[in-house]
Amino acid sequence: MFTLPMTLTQRAGARQLNRDKNRCGIVKCFDKEGRSFEIEERSVDCLSHLMHMYENFFPRAISQGLPPARDDDLNQWVCRLLESGWNFLCRQDGVIVGHAAVLPDLDKSDGEYVVFVLQAYRNKGLGTVLTEMAMRKARNVGLHTMWLTVEAFNFRAIKVYKKVGFEFCDEGERERTMVLRL
Ligand SMILES: CC(C)(COP(=O)(O)OP(=O)(O)OC[C@H]1O[C@@H](n2cnc3c(N)ncnc32)[C@H](O)[C@@H]1OP(=O)(O)O)[C@@H](O)C(=O)NCCC(=O)NCCS
Repeated sequence: MFTLPMTLTQRAGARQLNRDKNRCGIVKCFDKEGRSFEIEERSVDCLSHLMHMYENFFPRAISQGLPPARDDDLNQWVCRLLESGWNFLCRQDGVIVGHAAVLPDLDKSDGEYVVFVLQAYRNKGLGTVLTEMAMRKARNVGLHTMWLTVEAFNFRAIKVYKKVGFEFCDEGERERTMVLRL
């Protein structure tokens, strides 16, 4: 169990609740509407829960073809993230509603970042806190940078990324690359 820096959590519009002493690695927060949610780092053992979230993700392929529209591609994609990445699951109302992953390249000391929140749960601060958790892990492990690609018109995602410190590093018209120095 660890504590997010309060300044970051406040900037996300969400408030950290407290430490849950009985469960390791879980951070509890409040969303912008005052409802609690929790984020936990998980690995391959959560495959079925994560698949369930993405099976309910609508519309699929919303961002750069992700999450994959076809079920078998979706399964492969989720398995790859769980096997090769650091994964953070956000649970609210007893179900998984958001997921973020860092795919580290330890030789380069960097990691690619992805984040997805179910439509009904967006704009409440969850994506920001997921991103902060991923940043914290990457920093603690010793990565120097995180990077991502985002469609140029995905204004909500770009807002989240800029808020936590990502910066554009190219001039792409349809797709932009952003980098965060940790
Ligand atoms: C991008 C995504 C992960 C963000 O998660 P989220 O939980 O909605 O994010 P948050 O609620 O923490 O923050 C959203 C921010 O965008 C802002 N926002 C919403 N719509 C916006 C718009 N059209 N233009 C600019 N900012 C916008 C919100 O006001 C909020 O900022 P604030 O907290 O400073 O007020 C989520 O929207 C999502 O899953 N989108 C579909 C998949 C996707 O695009 N993933 C990213 C792939 S690169």
